[in-house]
Amino acid sequence: MPEPILKVNDLWKNFGGLTAVSDYYLELPQGMIYGLIGPNGAGKTTIFNLLSGVLKPNRGRIVFNQIDITHFRPDQITRVGLTRTFQNLRLFPSLNVEMNLKIASHIHLHYSFIASLSSSPGFFRSEREMQKKVEAMLDVFGLSQYRGELASNLPYGLQRKLDIARTLMTDPKVVLLDEPSAGMNTVESEDLARLILQIKERFQLTLVIVEHRMPFVMGLADIIQVLDYGSVIAQGTPEEIQNNPQVIEAYLGAGDTIA
Ligand SMILES: Nc1ncnc2c1ncn2[C@@H]1O[C@H](COP(=O)(O)OP(=O)(O)OP(=O)(O)O)[C@@H](O)[C@H]1O
Ligand SMILES: [Mg+2]
Repeated sequence: MPEPILKVNDLWKNFGGLTAVSDYYLELPQGMIYGLIGPNGAGKTTIFNLLSGVLKPNRGRIVFNQIDITHFRPDQITRVGLTRTFQNLRLFPSLNVEMNLKIASHIHLHYSFIASLSSSPGFFRSEREMQKKVEAMLDVFGLSQYRGELASNLPYGLQRKLDIARTLMTDPKVVLLDEPSAGMNTVESEDLARLILQIKERFQLTLVIVEHRMPFVMGLADIIQVLDYGSVIAQGTPEEIQNNPQVIEAYLGAGDTIA
């Protein structure tokens, strides 16, 4: 077995007296889609916040591509190749689609704006590269015709797509998606599932997807991990998870449904 691209051991996070994540572990093989599910408040977003450096763990170790990133800042984590989306969209509503893509590389990688004003050949090379990347994203995500539109004018489903496209501007190896299909109708979410498979192949991504929409995540993920009260209660193929009594119990207890 090759080394997993992301390896997490014994990860803990407390908020005051509340243990939001306890003894969390993950071994994410390259090229895989991992689903992370669990009732509301189970700790899914907190895990993404820990993996992306937004929050610091109380305990535990996060190794990405054989680099210990446990104490890295978010921009350093982006730089080594791990990016994420947020449960709520993080677009710049008053910038157009193209600018939203361009600014993603500046913000997430902390490129200096002074450098971007300079006319060095190196800068133009990277500008050209950025434009190429923007064109690729517009094409793959079906956003070319909207390039000049303000992000806030896009239909919600396209705003969600743009938010994912932004994460790819930093050339990630691993992308964490926090409820990518939230607020979408069935047709839009099926379209998004196809798109996720497409970008996974084209950009050779490994993905972790947090989702409440069961058919979506069950159809996409190779392996699913189930969280309840901050701990992993089950891990397996979608079929194994759907038939796991402990999982069904956790969802029934939360008044949610697994299928
Ligand atoms: N910054 C914070 N400060 C205090 N408590 C927090 C903070 N972030 C999360 N929590 C708490 O930690 C627990 C886990 O929250 P988290 O947002 O990770 O859950 P989740 O699985 O993403 O839920 P949902 O499905 O509703 O998005 C919850 O009890 C939540 O209230
Ligand atoms: Mg959440």
